[in-house]
Amino acid sequence: MVEFGFDLKHLFPQPIIRVQADSLHPKVLSTGPRAHPFIPYQRQRGVGQPAVPPGGPSCELSQIVDVMGQLSAVAQGLRYPVTTAAKLAPDQVVYLLADKDAAGRWSVAGLLKVGTKDLFVFDNKGSCRRANQTPAILDFYVHESRQRRGLGKQLFQRMLDEQGWTAGKCSVDRPSEKLLAFLGKHYGLVSTIPQGNHFVLYEGFFEDPHAKI
Ligand code: ACO
Repeated sequence: MVEFGFDLKHLFPQPIIRVQADSLHPKVLSTGPRAHPFIPYQRQRGVGQPAVPPGGPSCELSQIVDVMGQLSAVAQGLRYPVTTAAKLAPDQVVYLLADKDAAGRWSVAGLLKVGTKDLFVFDNKGSCRRANQTPAILDFYVHESRQRRGLGKQLFQRMLDEQGWTAGKCSVDRPSEKLLAFLGKHYGLVSTIPQGNHFVLYEGFFEDPHAKI
């Protein structure tokens, strides 16, 4: 589990929180033409005065996102993290999961990043179609010490509920073997529709839930 040098209680009023770019980057007063609200405070010294002091909740959340993103990259054998606070796009959402250890201390145990993608995809008949604003699973990680205890399911299901998505309608960016097994176990997703890109789509992706049979 990942502990940080600050108290997590005020950041996690409940075990799973939802984070977007605007809650990660401290706003900077625009005192010059290069002041930019989406560039972290530290990189803007001399350009603007921070409207919130460094070390506030947004800096702490940024640290959590960066550390968990880095651990996820290591777990997946990636050279660079898929998730960093600085690169979080406005349409992307990070769900963070905190959990108590045996001693009752809160630590951060998981991260799930989602967003939407405009994709060219193949349907069940092999025809190429454009799929705009496709729900996309972009990065998913539960700390090694906490895997296979149902935390991933809690995090993923909370994301689906909050986003109003169903698992079978999500595209999955380069899923690992563990994630493929996870989706098969918890959501019955097994049959995929072959694609020409690195996204995985499951049978049922193109089904209209409102279609009359
Ligand atoms: N080997 C095979 N399957 C696994 C493993 C594993 N080591 N760990 C989890 N799973 C799958 C299995 O289906 C497992 O069920 P089982 O124990 O009955 O076999 C199920 O997930 C467990 O479900 P949860 O406990 O709810 O999930 P967990 O908390 O373990 O989180 C996750 C799943 C996020 C995939 C986790 O295993 C993980 O962080 N793996 C390393 C990083 C990773 O591969 N992330 C996905 C990258 S791809 C992407 O993000 C788009």
